[in-house]
Amino acid sequence: MKLAIAVAVFFFSRLALVHGATDTKHYIVFMGDHSYPNSESVKLANHEMLASVMGSIDGAQQAVVYHYTRSFRGFSAMLTPVHAQQLAERESVVSVFESKMNHAHTTHSWDFLGVNSIHQYNHLPLESKSDVIIGVIDSGVWPESMSFNDTGLGPIPKRFKGKCVIGEEFSLANCNRKLIGARFYYKGFEKDKGPLKTISSDFLKSARDTEGHGSHTASTVAGSAVANASYLGMAKGTARGGAPSARLAIYKALWSNRGSDADLFKAFDDAISDGVDIISISIGSSPQKNFLADSLSIGSLRAFMEGILVSASAGNAGKPYTASNVAPWILTVAASSVDREFNANVYLGNSKILKVTLQSLVKEGSPLALEMVVGIREDVNNFPTSTIHDSCGTHPMGYSLSPLKMKRSYGVINASAAAAPGVSSKAASFCQNSTLDPTLIKGKIVVCYNVDGSSESFFVKQAGAVGIIVVRPLAEGIDFNLQIPGTLIERKEAEELKAYLEKQRNPIAKISLTMTALNTKRAPRMATFSSMGPNIITPDIIKPDITAPGVNILAAWPPSTAVDTKEDFDYNIISGTSMACPHASGIAGIIKSYHPSWNPSIIKSAMMTTATVLDNTGGPILKDPNDSPATPFDYGSGHVNPSAALDPGLVYDFDSEDIIDYLCGTGATPKQLESFLGVAVTCKYPPTPAYNLNYPSIGVANLLRSVSVLRTVTYYGKGPTVYISNVEQPKGVKVVITPPKLKFGNYGEKMSFKVDIMPSKNHSGNIEFVFGALTWDNGIHRVRSPIMLNLI
Ligand SMILES: *[C@@H]1O[C@H](CO)[C@@H](O)[C@H](O)[C@H]1NC(C)=O
Ligand SMILES: *[C@@H]1O[C@H](CO)[C@@H](O)[C@H](O)[C@H]1NC(C)=O
Ligand SMILES: *[C@@H]1O[C@H](CO)[C@@H](O)[C@H](O)[C@H]1NC(C)=O
Ligand SMILES: *[C@@H]1O[C@H](CO)[C@@H](O)[C@H](O)[C@H]1NC(C)=O
Ligand SMILES: *[C@@H]1O[C@H](CO)[C@@H](O)[C@H](O)[C@H]1NC(C)=O
Repeated sequence: MKLAIAVAVFFFSRLALVHGATDTKHYIVFMGDHSYPNSESVKLANHEMLASVMGSIDGAQQAVVYHYTRSFRGFSAMLTPVHAQQLAERESVVSVFESKMNHAHTTHSWDFLGVNSIHQYNHLPLESKSDVIIGVIDSGVWPESMSFNDTGLGPIPKRFKGKCVIGEEFSLANCNRKLIGARFYYKGFEKDKGPLKTISSDFLKSARDTEGHGSHTASTVAGSAVANASYLGMAKGTARGGAPSARLAIYKALWSNRGSDADLFKAFDDAISDGVDIISISIGSSPQKNFLADSLSIGSLRAFMEGILVSASAGNAGKPYTASNVAPWILTVAASSVDREFNANVYLGNSKILKVTLQSLVKEGSPLALEMVVGIREDVNNFPTSTIHDSCGTHPMGYSLSPLKMKRSYGVINASAAAAPGVSSKAASFCQNSTLDPTLIKGKIVVCYNVDGSSESFFVKQAGAVGIIVVRPLAEGIDFNLQIPGTLIERKEAEELKAYLEKQRNPIAKISLTMTALNTKRAPRMATFSSMGPNIITPDIIKPDITAPGVNILAAWPPSTAVDTKEDFDYNIISGTSMACPHASGIAGIIKSYHPSWNPSIIKSAMMTTATVLDNTGGPILKDPNDSPATPFDYGSGHVNPSAALDPGLVYDFDSEDIIDYLCGTGATPKQLESFLGVAVTCKYPPTPAYNLNYPSIGVANLLRSVSVLRTVTYYGKGPTVYISNVEQPKGVKVVITPPKLKFGNYGEKMSFKVDIMPSKNHSGNIEFVFGALTWDNGIHRVRSPIMLNLI
């Protein structure tokens, strides 16, 4: 697709036509590499350049918001569209784009509680001498959290050039050998939204996190192991980050989950030049902006060129074509569940069990979990962390949806059959205040329809009921804060319940505690909210790249008070691709500590080619909520497999040169790329097709006729070996690998091969996506690349 770059170039002329000539907006002027000796000389040059369009140095100085001087040259300034356009026409300017707001990729759901959410990684050896530095661009950090305790860590790596910047409620003493850097950025946000303090008195001009998102992601990436971490005193377990021995450099650029491009760009400028190894960023714009109008895409390309892997969240839009952070130099992370479910079954008098699994019902923004957790404390105290058996099998005890355990069975009544005098049965079915007849529901479990449940549980309790079953055919946006034992069922269970109620004169039921079931089959499953491909900027690159745990993740939180119980907690459970990204970043950190010389594309390749597309039943990974099989548009190469990624066998490597060829192939001009990279660039003629970027997955958009895709693998094993190709054929095409076998002798040896893709003659002509895979197998390593083809 040629448009990515071209659109960026034409962005301004359109803007100039649309907006008045005198209104100023916040623009970022990006000029790529620079050879100025220091920041001061860059600032001087920026002022002069700006003065040449604005007319005065004074005006220029006042207009500037940021100078980008460390890792690349540029500035951001309040400009009229006309001035912005004049700057865009300058030879040395790569791009000019408006500073827009980006959003945190979290769901804000207060989610379910369980044991250490990343327990499956605990078997990995801890590289205690690791000096890997991970930069986290987010909402800051709560430095007192035990997750940032630096006990046992060696001195701060000498190559780190970052700073612990002091600010409101943040002193030098808040940095340590774990939190080695702390910076913050707010000028861009203020230009857009007004002074921080007028928006929220909670905003602190420092790296201190008052919101939670940043502490959560940072502790997931590289939090120290904390024994007995818990949320509201429950489900004690060891909380730890993916790379507990890595160091964290914090770049706070999110305010109320929003981050302006100008601030984020400054964070990249600093992080790259501070010397971080990996950048973790759970932020994005939706829809994804084209590369040259997007601070994340540009900043992460600069990072890539400096050998820094950028791991970013795909977003929580949950629909096709919504994945963001889709540049090939970014590791784009989707979200999936872990092997844990929440069951709140109903035991009927006829010994039937209505099995209710709540995990799939948790939706973005649902405050369900907090209330559920608050509701059950007493029961949890009865079963601290031990494993008990319930009637459904071995389930470590969790917590309940309801405040009290239902000790025996009670009568059940359909609310519509218990209408108060003068109330229609339809109106009664919603269980609103004073719509039910207390004499009919007293001492019973009431079945209510299509309600949130919390206020209704209050109303039915007032009227004397002992339990509530809420029927929600679509179960969206649940908001439970139940005053009495209760659960939520969907259509299928409601039918069973109805059949039972109709047959029995005195139907009875018992609502079980909500069980946290561990080691549940089938896991992982793709989260409904996880943003999907196809890639809207460069469709030849499959996005997202990978999936990682992002559902119900326990991690550090600023000390807060639970709304209902007034109880303090400093760990919290939330969901989102925001939570998946730091898992991937932490795993990248582990890989980097084992293989310090690996560049970003090698780390990426190792993670992608070893990912699994099977779940813990050995079947294909499914997708919530309907159990449809997931595709590469959901999870890219599959679910991350950290221990396999340490030893991938073969890798697909690509470097800045390859990215130049790729960008040329998508329509970028040599001139743009020259200032971008600071070196002379000639685009090859004919340009390299985007599908020939040596990416660890294979995609061809617009496959009209046969194409040959080229790839090169590098052998990262010892001694002679033979890899044999194995193709899962996509429907309607034939894929042939030449040569079908690759013989390697020595570590580092490279071999190229051809992937001939031949659509069958009778393709219908409808646009269709088909998937397959190529796996290189030497009997020990399986190096898998998904294949995505868009037949037209
Ligand atoms: C950090 O952890 C160590 C070992 O668990 C403990 O002794 C120390 O008190 C902790 N530091 C802080 C500041 O809590
Ligand atoms: C964690 O809790 C268990 C049980 O309450 C206790 O025995 C143990 O000493 C605690 N560990 C730490 C490090 O506090
Ligand atoms: C419910 O209805 C009763 C009587 O109609 C009223 O006194 C009470 O305030 C209502 N409760 C709520 C929470 O609306
Ligand atoms: C409750 O009553 C309504 C209205 O008659 C009916 O549609 C529904 O199926 C009943 N539900 C159950 C669980 O019996
Ligand atoms: C093409 O024809 C073959 C043989 O008739 C058939 O099996 C295949 O499904 C057809 N493919 C498409 C894409 O229609």
